[in-house]
Amino acid sequence: MTYEHFPVLAEEVIEFLDPHPHGIYVDGTLGGAGHALKILERSSPTGRLIGIDRDEEAIEEARKRLKPYEARTTIIHGNFSDLGEILRELKIGKVDAILLDLGVSYQQLIDGKRGFSFQSEGPLDMRMDRTGGKPASKLVNTLSQGELEGILRMYGEGRWARRIARAIVRHRQKTPIATTSQLRDIISSAVLKPPRRIHPATKAFQAIRIAVNDELNNLEKVIRDGIPLVKSGGRLCIISFHSLEDRIVKTTFRQHERSPQLITIITKKPICSSKGEVSANPRARSAKLRVAERV
Ligand SMILES: C[S@@+](CC[C@H](N)C(=O)[O-])C[C@H]1O[C@@H](n2cnc3c(N)ncnc32)[C@H](O)[C@@H]1O
Repeated sequence: MTYEHFPVLAEEVIEFLDPHPHGIYVDGTLGGAGHALKILERSSPTGRLIGIDRDEEAIEEARKRLKPYEARTTIIHGNFSDLGEILRELKIGKVDAILLDLGVSYQQLIDGKRGFSFQSEGPLDMRMDRTGGKPASKLVNTLSQGELEGILRMYGEGRWARRIARAIVRHRQKTPIATTSQLRDIISSAVLKPPRRIHPATKAFQAIRIAVNDELNNLEKVIRDGIPLVKSGGRLCIISFHSLEDRIVKTTFRQHERSPQLITIITKKPICSSKGEVSANPRARSAKLRVAERV
């Protein structure tokens, strides 16, 4: 599979990180290694990169792409929420920066067999890390109607949570829900007035994906655990793609800016992609970058 090489807000990220040859940089969401590659280039000849991803396929691809830099790169298949342990095992005390480019990658989204998108037919999986955890099909076929409604309401930011949860439960009483298209059709039929601009399944799929991967808890944990692991003057750069993620970044940064003050927030407002970037890479449309500096 070919990986697209459009790291989002790359110029801005590099400007804020300002990689240098004596630095140690963590890319917690290595993906196709677009940002990682730029960090390695800019920190030549001796800057070190620790790249983490939950997805084994992404890790394999990143390994190939970063081959020319393997001597100063450590690639880890793992969850960024375990950053503390990962750095301890590598015997690294503090790092110069942590970058997170959240969510799923374009590659994960377009690969039908991963089950992330209602636009590609495939098994209802949605796990970023397929070596463990429960696929989305397990959740939709076993959670109670109330639990499903809670997930759809909390993580889907949209209406219709109750109707969709009820439709899922009714459907599975007859046939288990196994594929993306089955779930998409159930959602479409449950929604009375489909929104004009986005497909009604967009937010419901987002909600289930967040639950399958425990995305928001992982995010909050990595910010809390990560801040003390950054050297004084070092930076945390976080790119989010929807308001639930952005709210966590904003509020967790603010908490750590108050007493005891551990960081200074550099971006009072989030940085968004330019029109030019959005037209070259539509995924950049909803990206928001927030940056904090360790005091
Ligand atoms: C948007 S992509 C990153 C793209 C990358 N910055 C690039 O330039 O190619 C997000 C990646 O983060 C990974 N990911 C998401 N949550 C994670 C977590 N909690 N721990 C580790 N990796 C995670 C996903 O598997 C995916 O590969």
